[in-house]
Amino acid sequence: MTTASLRSTYPAPGGFDPRRLRRDFPIFANNPDLVFLDSAASAQKPRSVIDGTAQYYRTDYANVHRGVYRLSARSTELYEEARDKVRRFLNAADHREIVFVRNTTEAINLVAQSWGPAFLREGDEVLISELEHHSNIVPWQLLRDRIGIRLVVAPIDATGGLDLAAFEARLSSRTRLVAMTHVANATGTLVPVERIIRLAHLHGAKVLIDGSQAAPRLPVDVQALGCDFYAFTGHKVYGPTGIGVLYGRFDVLSAMPPWQGGGEMILHVSFEKTDYQEPPHRFEAGTPDIAGAIGLGLALDFIEELGRDNILEHEEALTGYGVDRLSRIPGLRLLGAGQRRLAILSFDLEGVHPHDVAQVLDQHHVAVRAGHHCAQPLMERLGLSGTTRASLGVYNDETDIDRLGAAIEAARGMFAR
Ligand code: ALA
Repeated sequence: MTTASLRSTYPAPGGFDPRRLRRDFPIFANNPDLVFLDSAASAQKPRSVIDGTAQYYRTDYANVHRGVYRLSARSTELYEEARDKVRRFLNAADHREIVFVRNTTEAINLVAQSWGPAFLREGDEVLISELEHHSNIVPWQLLRDRIGIRLVVAPIDATGGLDLAAFEARLSSRTRLVAMTHVANATGTLVPVERIIRLAHLHGAKVLIDGSQAAPRLPVDVQALGCDFYAFTGHKVYGPTGIGVLYGRFDVLSAMPPWQGGGEMILHVSFEKTDYQEPPHRFEAGTPDIAGAIGLGLALDFIEELGRDNILEHEEALTGYGVDRLSRIPGLRLLGAGQRRLAILSFDLEGVHPHDVAQVLDQHHVAVRAGHHCAQPLMERLGLSGTTRASLGVYNDETDIDRLGAAIEAARGMFAR
């Protein structure tokens, strides 16, 4: 068997069955009591990804883009095939628009460190929102400290959605980039990025979308969206850690200088001068995470076979069930998520610290995340030090939500007066 022949085989459409799906995730067989509600932090891995990656090492492994021997050519083919799977997943026009990086954080840092100094001047503005993860805040602060740009923040409204009027009011001819999340990791707010992109482009600004929480559950079409950059990470789409994607429109990527130097990204090197490769290789210095890219490709096969519309339908229904169940717990306040909440139930339990809640939940084998969720400015804005966050994946069902609800009630019984 070769890596290429490994595919998952789910009879997805119309038959979305999380219980059956769970059997294809070895973690659940090895942890029979586990209620895993932390997929927003990192999703579990299906057998096709685990076995496919191991199989690649067993049968097809060699470095890429270097060897003239057949094994290296096969490995290169698999690596570039993975890039084309990502292109299809995002409906990008060209495989050269897909840059492999470590994760979303690295994708955003790449844009900040390459595109930023090349195209921004002192006083230019980067517009983000209050919903952002630290990875879409700190790279722009580093750039601000380096070249004097201004970081402008669009607020949320009372419901936890992005305040679109306030966003629009902050756009001006000084706005050069809008960098915004698609689905907020701390609240599950779905941001109307189509509208954001259209408004930003009317003002001549480029747009970067952080798709970390959207890619696992929403159909994403970068051509229909018209964004300039779109970033997501492999480990949240049921793929390996250490691999992620920066999509960039080819004309935009072509105008950007390299951000890291080394092998792979050059055409010719002398001590006087170096000529660089075209994108995407210009941005992939050094030996890449070859197995990670191939594992990511297998994870995207898994998602496509399930169908993103089916995943969305399943997770929306389960989110609704979760909102309903948790709303019936006295003293529990769900964070608002605007018009549409996706797959994330972030809450405050009156009188109980989020870490205490999470610890009691763990005693009931319910895995959730507690804390500021790498969104400290949002937490401060909401007047909270943190929350307890349950997040959904394809393998969750109502029984998981019921066990979550019962475990929260137990925590409340232990701590609340
Ligand atoms: N960004 C990930 C989360 O929201 C780690 O948990």
